[in-house]
Amino acid sequence: MIHFNSETRTFNLLLRSSYYAFQVDADGRLIHLGWGPRPQDASGEDQISGKPVFEPYNIPWSFITQFRPDEVLTFGEITSFYPTLKVSFPGLPVPLKEGESPHLPLRDLRLRYAGYEIVTGAKPGLAPAHGLPVRELSPRETLRVRLQDPLQSLYVTLCYRLDPEHDIIERWCELENAGQQPVSFDICCFASLHLPNGTNELTSVSGTWAREFTPQRQRLSQGVQMMESRNLQTGHNSNPFFMLNRPGQAWEESGVVYFGALAYSGAWQIALEQLPTLDIRLHAGYHPFDFQLDLAPGERHVTPALVIGVSLQGWGGASRRLHDFVRRHVLPCPPQDAQWRPVLYNSWEATYFNLSFENQVELARKAASIGVELFCVDDGWFGARRSDTAGLGDWVVSPDVFPGGLELLVDEVHRLGMQFGLWVEPEMVNPDSDLYRLHPDWVLHFPGRPRTTARNQLILDFGRTEVVEHIFSLLDALVERYSIAFFKWDMNRLATEPGSVAGKAIWRRHVEGVYRIMDRLRQQHPGLDIQTCSGGGGRIDLGMFGRTDQAWVSDNTDAFDRVRIQEGFSLAYPACCMEAWVTHEKNHITQRVTPLNLRFDVAMRGALGIGSSLNELSQAELAEYASFIQFYKMIRPVVQAGELYRLERLEEFDASVIEYVLPDGSEAVYSEVLRDHQVGVFRPAALLKGLQSRLVYMVLDRSNTEVYRATGYELMVQGIPPAMLDYPGYSRTLYLRAVQ
Ligand code: DGJ
Repeated sequence: MIHFNSETRTFNLLLRSSYYAFQVDADGRLIHLGWGPRPQDASGEDQISGKPVFEPYNIPWSFITQFRPDEVLTFGEITSFYPTLKVSFPGLPVPLKEGESPHLPLRDLRLRYAGYEIVTGAKPGLAPAHGLPVRELSPRETLRVRLQDPLQSLYVTLCYRLDPEHDIIERWCELENAGQQPVSFDICCFASLHLPNGTNELTSVSGTWAREFTPQRQRLSQGVQMMESRNLQTGHNSNPFFMLNRPGQAWEESGVVYFGALAYSGAWQIALEQLPTLDIRLHAGYHPFDFQLDLAPGERHVTPALVIGVSLQGWGGASRRLHDFVRRHVLPCPPQDAQWRPVLYNSWEATYFNLSFENQVELARKAASIGVELFCVDDGWFGARRSDTAGLGDWVVSPDVFPGGLELLVDEVHRLGMQFGLWVEPEMVNPDSDLYRLHPDWVLHFPGRPRTTARNQLILDFGRTEVVEHIFSLLDALVERYSIAFFKWDMNRLATEPGSVAGKAIWRRHVEGVYRIMDRLRQQHPGLDIQTCSGGGGRIDLGMFGRTDQAWVSDNTDAFDRVRIQEGFSLAYPACCMEAWVTHEKNHITQRVTPLNLRFDVAMRGALGIGSSLNELSQAELAEYASFIQFYKMIRPVVQAGELYRLERLEEFDASVIEYVLPDGSEAVYSEVLRDHQVGVFRPAALLKGLQSRLVYMVLDRSNTEVYRATGYELMVQGIPPAMLDYPGYSRTLYLRAVQ
């Protein structure tokens, strides 16, 4: 619900258990009044009335006014803290006094209230344009508050789209140059947030290739701390989401936690600022490094969204709100959508670049025999791509690999009852490729400078519309010709020489190009699924999930490492889009040998995939794979649609115990993994959540054998008895079903 008190000019946004409020002050500025939990018994009538005249910050005393919590913080007036927007007016026609110099470009911005409206159907910038519905179709209210600079005709509209059920608000800005002169933005955040004093404990993730999503918790110090990506993609080193709470006031399942995530897949920045007053601000949006956003007279720009929310149930509650929000409001949901993510086979770790028709057919037959539903051929199927040194960009089936054409494999995969998928890396080119030989100017580079390759590749210039069009046409033709149901869309290098026909705007134009191709492909082929991958988990965010179905979270498939990576992923993103493979006994990156049940127990926490070299496995091993996959299909609805509880986190006992439970508490999955164990330490039993106390639950193992039976009450107060013998690598997955 959105309320406006016209007397005090106060806005109250009321959600299920939280509120957000701000007020127009006497000078027409928007002043933040508060954001946080509402009392449980509050009704729609209970609102903040605001001040008749907004007093505290009208004191003409700069010590106070410099900390004034404007909803949109602009460079200029009194404050020198970090702004939401910083603008240059290169040729503002200010009325000058005789002999006065214009001091151009004018760089301060003053925004004053110019009205509001409440609408349904408003969308942030770069919202998916593929036309596929999301799961939840009911309209959502958006508050649009219009502000104007009194000197220059620049309008800024702050947008707040409500998802009351999850206590989530999507925030973005619409910028409109209604004047006669161009405007450039030096800093452009999608929104700034004001958090209560002392809310300075930050939960986020950091990492690198093969170590993505490592959870970390730290205290903010005074000043500004950045989380960022200065790349064309979201990045491996950090991910654009955050959780903030007062230290010692929130835990996994209790306390107030503020959270947020960006719906954008390019160069981003989240600036976390602790003021000298200990008030906390957060500014999130485009990375201002090497940034360019110019609006010519009459032009408009709508920023993507910052999704924010409040949890009253700790970090776990924040994750569950985000998960459900993603499942219902973000992920595309084609009308003919199969309900669950299919069990996928991917050939990468089995055959790398040594593809042949024969080895792929053999893999496909074995994959089908163990219950795989989607068969994906990874890198190496096209052009001269027999290694990573050549062929990238030439999206034509290689006759060396498939002398009879790819159709033979596709037909066999279909005959076996599976869908067919292909790996692509559309934004890249090897210099040793037909595409590059034909169009050497189509890559990002600075003319006259050497072109530096990474993984032997260069990046196509998506600032050129003809390049975007060319890539779309090739991919479109592939889907058409080979009945492709799934693309694994990869991106394997960072932009270090971003010279483009689009100038510095390339950072945004690249993302727009990728989104455009994905959206058009999905529009043309509503049955097509896409997996986002960027050398593992380098491009995962809410913008990507608007047009992809799942993510490849890391190239590191070692179950010991993976359990940590997946825990970090689970902070923000749901299990249904977390592709997780079981691979060989000896891991290709870490060289660690792990037992099969551990590999499955970890991979079954997400959308299960298989990446093992099936052609090297015995019949007995294949049969074991088949039995795990059969078990996974039974628990899949709970894993993929259930609510996640992290019952024990790695930071506690080096054990990860998680539970997925259906919202009605009728079924649950209990998954336990021990990374390390100290002799003589008795881990407490993990207490289950979300069950019904009165019901009796049967607990089944993979062989469908009942291993335990207890009431929901017992399971929630005593848990499942821990294993008698703990050891590193111990794991189990149990399925709980209410029987009475
Ligand atoms: C990086 C991906 O993350 C891998 O899974 C694999 O697809 C390779 N690229 C192929 O080159």
